[in-house]
This record gives sequence, structure tokens and C-alpha cells, in this order.
Amino acid sequence: MAAEPDRSQCVDFHSHLLPGIDDGCKTLDDSLTIIRELQYQGINHIITTPHIFKELYPNTPEIILEKLKLLQSALIQNNINIKLEAAAEYYLDEWFCQNFQTMDLLTFKGNHILVETNYMERPHFLEQVFFDLQTSGYAVVFAHPERYNYLINNYNAFHSLFDRGILFQCNLLSFTGYYSPQIKKAANYLLKHNMISMIGSDIHKIKHAQIISEFKKSKAYQNLIQLDLLNNTL
Ligand SMILES: [Fe+2]
Repeated sequence: MAAEPDRSQCVDFHSHLLPGIDDGCKTLDDSLTIIRELQYQGINHIITTPHIFKELYPNTPEIILEKLKLLQSALIQNNINIKLEAAAEYYLDEWFCQNFQTMDLLTFKGNHILVETNYMERPHFLEQVFFDLQTSGYAVVFAHPERYNYLINNYNAFHSLFDRGILFQCNLLSFTGYYSPQIKKAANYLLKHNMISMIGSDIHKIKHAQIISEFKKSKAYQNLIQLDLLNNTL
């Protein structure tokens, strides 16, 4: 019997490719340049995840889906044959905690929601909002846990969240040392302890895609995609 194809190499998850709505691509041209690069890398399916952060990027599902349509049309016009979908990366703040129950959330894989927090300070409501999301029927995917100062200074906190069923999504860039040596170390710790459920590119600009292209040639990347990743089910 033929081996299962390794689809984690073909799906790009977690990025900021919709133009002009967050700190990712600024123009449609930026978006097309990055998507062409991803196609060149063998990607045939992208799930892009604009920030939804009340204070800085007050996006809504309507805004995101409208931009998605615009970019999908541009892909067709430019003969770029790639499947493009959108979810979101929700910033967990007081506003989100108070309002998510009444909001239409942009999820992926049915009930999965991608969330992030402040990098420096542990939100006092973190456990509570994770619990509330889970009891509301969502599977919580925590974006790049290896990047939060409040976690990488205390690896026990990784285990505590993991044991509560929080799914960890690590960034490919973290394994390259792009952000910092400490973040690379934390990503490798999560890898070693088999705590990674998803990998993501978190591409904001073309430079990120180029660094990831180099990383994909490495043994480290090959090891990573051998994991039993949710990426393979998208
Ligand atoms: Fe992101």
C-alpha cells in the first residue's frame, strides 16, 4: 500500500496575508508576492489568520471574509492556483473574555480557535478564558507558546497548560533562531517533550517566507513534520 502523502508540507497555517488589515501584508502586491513564494515551496493550501485585537486591529469576520474574497479574485486573475482560506488569531484581552460568547468566531477545522496573548505579561484571566472557551465547545490552539516571556521563564507553565488540553502551535521561524536563542530553545523543549500539535509559519512579510524556505531544507524541519500534527488534517 502506498504511504500516506505528507500534507504538512503542502498546507501553510497561521499567517498575515490579507492586505491592509493587520501588521502583515500592506498591499495586494505584497500578498501575491508571498503567495507566489509559498507556491514555489510546494504549498497548495493556505489558512491565513489575521489578528483580531480590539485595541490595535479591530477586525471582524465580515472584514476578514471580504478581504479574503478580494485576494482570492486576485489569485485567479494572476493565474495562481492555490487554495486560500481564512480563520483568525484572537488576542486574549478583557474585551475578548467578556464578549466571545456572543460573537461569531472565525475558527478552522470546525471548532478550533487560534489565540494569542501579550508577550510579556501573563494575563490574570488566562486559565479562566481557556476553560471558558473549552466549555463552550472550542478546541484552543495557543499560537507560538515558545514566544511568551511569561512561559519561557518557567517551563512548568507549558506543562500546566498542556495538561489542561491546550493545543500548542509552534512557529517554524522559532526553530531557526529568528526571534531569539531563548525562543529557539523553548521551541526545541516543546518538540523534545512531544507537546507540539501544530506548526505555523506566522508569515507577515516576504523575508519570513524566505527564511522558512531555507529552513525547509534542514534536517530539523524534516524531524518536525514527522510529528503527528493537526496540520495533516486540514
Ligand atoms: Fe500571528
